Amino acid sequence: MTELKAQLTVDGVDKTIELPVYSGTEGPMVVDVRGLTAQGLFTYDPGFMSTASCESKITYIDGGQGTLLHRGYPIEQLAEHSTYLETCYLLLYGELPSKAEKEAFEATITSHTMVHESIADFYHGFRRDAHPMAIMCGAVGALSAFYHESLNIENEEHRVQTAIKLIAKIPTLAAMCYKFSIGQPFMYPDNSKSYAENFLHMMFGVPCEESNIKPVIARAMDRVFLLHADHEQNASTSTVRLAGSSGANPFACVASGIAALWGPAHGGANEAVLNMLYEIGDVSRIDEYIKRAKDKNDPFRLMGFGHRVYKNFDPRAKVMKQSCDEVLQELGLEDDPLLKIAKRLEQIALEDEYFIEKKLYPNVDFYSGIILKALGIPVEMFTVIFATGRTPGWVAHWHEMISGPYKIGRPRQLYTGYSKRDYVKLEDR
Ligand code: CMC
Repeated sequence: MTELKAQLTVDGVDKTIELPVYSGTEGPMVVDVRGLTAQGLFTYDPGFMSTASCESKITYIDGGQGTLLHRGYPIEQLAEHSTYLETCYLLLYGELPSKAEKEAFEATITSHTMVHESIADFYHGFRRDAHPMAIMCGAVGALSAFYHESLNIENEEHRVQTAIKLIAKIPTLAAMCYKFSIGQPFMYPDNSKSYAENFLHMMFGVPCEESNIKPVIARAMDRVFLLHADHEQNASTSTVRLAGSSGANPFACVASGIAALWGPAHGGANEAVLNMLYEIGDVSRIDEYIKRAKDKNDPFRLMGFGHRVYKNFDPRAKVMKQSCDEVLQELGLEDDPLLKIAKRLEQIALEDEYFIEKKLYPNVDFYSGIILKALGIPVEMFTVIFATGRTPGWVAHWHEMISGPYKIGRPRQLYTGYSKRDYVKLEDR
């Protein structure tokens, strides 16, 4: 941290206020405004457009350059050389594991993939047509009612155990949502399989047959999880941190993150992309939808385009696009009509003045929607896949926060309601 200072003068306040300015290892300088409260002032920043809510060492994004680093490692390199579980280790522990550490971590995660048998009873209480994200919010929160032996958040060992349980069990809960919706029996995890393979086995396997997961599909699934693993202080991660700042248990905090992720402006966008492609229905109707997206009086937005931080290509989208092309080719799906609409839409939007000027590039959700469809994942499960992949990010941020000094998150407000006034009796209104 540096000794730099910012000076603030405010009309009506007869002194100059000095505020410390910090430089991180990367990124813009940050003005520490905490001292303003003592001067009777707050800052106003709805949507956190200019506010760093915490200090973190986990992930760095340069939206202008299109850079994403996990613990310093570029996402492109991790996607090419690493695996999802190795990236989970990196996020949680801060370094890439040695061979022995990697094997031990994989073995630990694998040994926690089952969920308490009574959790299945919860699922039977839901409607069959419930949205899987609705079930996930409840089921993940309910984990704290089953695994309360490791919920002392002051205990480092408990924190790590809970992080491991979350990463291990969420794919099992996710696949159970799908099985319940189609009336098939829940599949127990098969711990001889890799993480991604096991998830696909629990999704698509049946007890009466040997499951046969194509390696190309398992590899693509692992990469989808990896590309979603963390994204610094996005809405769901900030929600997890805020919930955690009150001392809430990590299962409850991750359940709150899942709820925040569900919205179409965040993780729900991958599902919204596919629904939009279905609605467009034919390449001949793309112009009509582009026109609607540009019309200020029409709330329609091109789902899968734009990002709060990336004003250049989302680096995850670049890798996802490449993966998408490979998978479509290997599965012989290049001629799928929906995928044709997606490709044409992408091309038109990339050449359109409106999208260029506003720096609205396709984001990770645009390509993940397409790839997940090609992998045979049902559309309602798309955001659940995002939640599964994002779990290590949520737990790493929660763990980082709880491991250091932290304060309960308590934003203030610019109040514009009535000033004090006297109660009016019913007969006088
Ligand atoms: N289609 C058409 N216009 C758009 C779009 C879009 N997808 N996204 C932004 N704009 C316009 C918007 O109307 C505004 O125009 P103007 O300046 O004339 O008012 C301008 O671009 C800036 O938009 P904003 O809403 O102020 O930007 P934001 O940073 O608050 O929102 C966003 C970012 C991702 C919520 C937004 O781009 C969006 O709604 N995109 C579609 C949903 C989506 O794909 N979300 C996934 C995000 S990536 C994965 C994740 O992090 O979850």
